[in-house]
Amino acid sequence: MVQASPDTLTRDTLAYTPEVAERTASIYERVKNVIPPMEWPVFAPEIDAINRLKAERNAVVLAHNYQTPEIFHGVADIVGDSLALARKAAETEAQVIVQAGVHFMAETSKLLSPEKTVLIPDIMAGCSLASSITAADVRLLRETYPGVPIVTYVNTSAEVKAESDICVTSGNAVKIVESLGTDRVIFLPDEYLANYVASQTDVKIISWKGHCEVHERFTGDEIRSYRKGYENLMVIAHPECPQDVLEAADYVGSTAQMIDFVTSKKPGRVLMVTECSMSDNVAAEVPEVEFVRPCNLCPHMKRITLPKIRHALETMSPQVEIDPAVAERARRAVARMLEVR
Ligand code: 13P
Ligand code: SF4
Repeated sequence: MVQASPDTLTRDTLAYTPEVAERTASIYERVKNVIPPMEWPVFAPEIDAINRLKAERNAVVLAHNYQTPEIFHGVADIVGDSLALARKAAETEAQVIVQAGVHFMAETSKLLSPEKTVLIPDIMAGCSLASSITAADVRLLRETYPGVPIVTYVNTSAEVKAESDICVTSGNAVKIVESLGTDRVIFLPDEYLANYVASQTDVKIISWKGHCEVHERFTGDEIRSYRKGYENLMVIAHPECPQDVLEAADYVGSTAQMIDFVTSKKPGRVLMVTECSMSDNVAAEVPEVEFVRPCNLCPHMKRITLPKIRHALETMSPQVEIDPAVAERARRAVARMLEVR
């Protein structure tokens, strides 16, 4: 039997009543620069319903910086980069976590909060980096390079983490690599992040050929042509971008580090070389900054929508489960990362 997708299941339209308008007015105030008034009657009833369901279920929504503004500003309790979300998942007291992000992020939350129910609104929300490497690949690398520590980006499956010594995120990769005290590490699976780490440390990096399908599309030529078109442009890039892009940028950092840079320095005009919803989310907070936006969207992140979040809370599904034997070993690699301050 063909199952209805969450989209079809939740197409019962919720009404935009005066009560809904009143209850969501303060949220609209926050996003009015990035969501046109015509669109708000579609989002507001969903936001209102989700915020009520969260209270009923004792649930929190953890949203990655790449979620769209109606999710990021409308229903998220905790927002951030992969590192912040991992830390907060371990700390939250709520019984239910709804991961507004991709599958590996929901798995990380489940690893750190095994007793909690972790919901992912679309089970198909994957990641090109996570699908670039398997546990068998990692075992083979360990055999090939005996004794060399295996450092794995969190953008991987729990099975791959279970074969690793320690995890990293884009925000702490250099620090973690240097904390190991070895002259070589195997760094998986993002080749460009590995190259970036290699450019920042004397530790020798053995890399893999995984790429983020969003960041690999940017080119150094594209950045240079934006600079020609826009005077005084501040260019800040994510380390999942190819090397020539990073060389053409003024600053390199994780999504949270990029946001901190823009909100604290408030450059007149900025190009954030990363997934494009993030510029909308930051633009809502700093209307005085002009954002130049090449729009590369992550198709996996964009699978998460308000109707799917509501559906997940209504049905308490899909839930993320991890084989306990895998989970125990994967948790060790993530926990070891969180211990490095
Ligand atoms: P960070 O938010 O940790 O920088 O990761 C970016 C990313 O591509 C997550 O999928
Ligand atoms: Fe994966 Fe790239 Fe999408 Fe992040 S943006 S989830 S790294 S494909």
